[in-house]
Amino acid sequence: MTDTAFTISAADRSASARPRDAAFYQNPYAFYSALHLGTPTFRWQDYGHWCFTGFKEVNALLRDKRFGREILHVMSRQDLGWAPPKPHTAAFDLTEKYSLLALEPPAHTRLRTLVNRAFVSRHVEQLRPRIGRLANEIIDSFEADGGTELIKSFAAPIPAIIIAEMIGLPAEMAPQLVSWSNRMVQMYMYGVTRDTELDANQASADFMAYLRDVITERRRVPKEDLLTHMLTADPVDGQKLSEDEVISTGILLLNAGHEATVHTAGNAVKTILESSLDPKALFANEEQTAATVEECLRFDAPLHMFTRYALSDVTLEGGLSFKKGETIGLMLGAANRDPMRFRDANTFDPFRTDGQNVSFGAGIHFCIGAPLARIELQVALSTLFRRLPALRLATEPRYNNVYHFHGLERLDVAW
Ligand code: HEM
Repeated sequence: MTDTAFTISAADRSASARPRDAAFYQNPYAFYSALHLGTPTFRWQDYGHWCFTGFKEVNALLRDKRFGREILHVMSRQDLGWAPPKPHTAAFDLTEKYSLLALEPPAHTRLRTLVNRAFVSRHVEQLRPRIGRLANEIIDSFEADGGTELIKSFAAPIPAIIIAEMIGLPAEMAPQLVSWSNRMVQMYMYGVTRDTELDANQASADFMAYLRDVITERRRVPKEDLLTHMLTADPVDGQKLSEDEVISTGILLLNAGHEATVHTAGNAVKTILESSLDPKALFANEEQTAATVEECLRFDAPLHMFTRYALSDVTLEGGLSFKKGETIGLMLGAANRDPMRFRDANTFDPFRTDGQNVSFGAGIHFCIGAPLARIELQVALSTLFRRLPALRLATEPRYNNVYHFHGLERLDVAW
């Protein structure tokens, strides 16, 4: 099957869709729909590895302990045929070294246990009033203008300020944190260049230096914040967190804590305004607000593909085999649109009852911030549509020219 943006060969279960092609990243769902028709598991030529789009398969593989996000704990770089680490990305690599997203048990379990307490629903639920105040203050600042670019003015500051405050950094630092984070996450996109690497490395070095200074300050004068909590938490398995672990975790939380939420908020506003549905009905009460947010997460997920390494030689049910160290791609954005799992999968329906999605992943790496992100989205979106009932799109929104992040470049709205 061919489209301008992709080709699929059912005969050898392979496909090509260039992650840098605007026709593809503006609407990856055309590719996913074509794959769901007969080639849900395929070799993506542009990446050079097998990918899975079926909901059942993605959900199962995310939980499958034979696959992991880390590989160097069971294989050497030499065995993998990898080049030595690049000296010019040393600072970036150090921020990754102790990242939850780069670890598997037992190191992952220890770190996650220490961080998890701060993010349980019971705890983050207390932030609801603060998020509501912030959303209202931000709308107050632009309401009289009759229009705004919503990503920069509304979607971005809310999660950035909230996660900065949770960690214990001043809200005024949020724009700087967002800038470091934006430059670092370029490393996760398709086709990274040397310039991108150098820039991400510089951002990492600056980010680490800033956090080291704040940590020195917290050791002197502890506060009621996550940074102090991580520095003073009781040891797990006899070990406290090292300074590098605290810095890695802080950076991961600051980056993961806003990037995906910003994109989800933008995609959600676009989806709602493009639908013919009445926002009043979508946010009629708390239960419906939660269901609307879930459907926005399903319908236009902000993160489309996460990879895993086979930790041993693996043969899957169905016969597909992977050698130890091989990469697979789990396509969250496609799994959420699987017609085998969802009725009218390509229809935005906030009243559906089969809405459970994999936008936050599953298994041991399931998003630690999911309860927080859900509350932020529920409060921010319901406040926005209540305060600005005449909200409409002022220009056609366009997505950023990257894959696998799927978020809007800008979102011009008027009321
Ligand atoms: C709508 C917003 C968000 C989405 C869609 C999202 C999505 C995800 C996904 C898919 C993963 C798992 C990746 C994998 O399995 O390979 C993940 C992990 C993670 N997320 Fe989120 N996330 C969001 C918001 C947040 C927030 C607000 C925070 C923090 C405050 C956060 C922190 C993390 C962390 C620390 C991990 C790593 C967990 C681990 O490896 O154990 N995320 N997120």
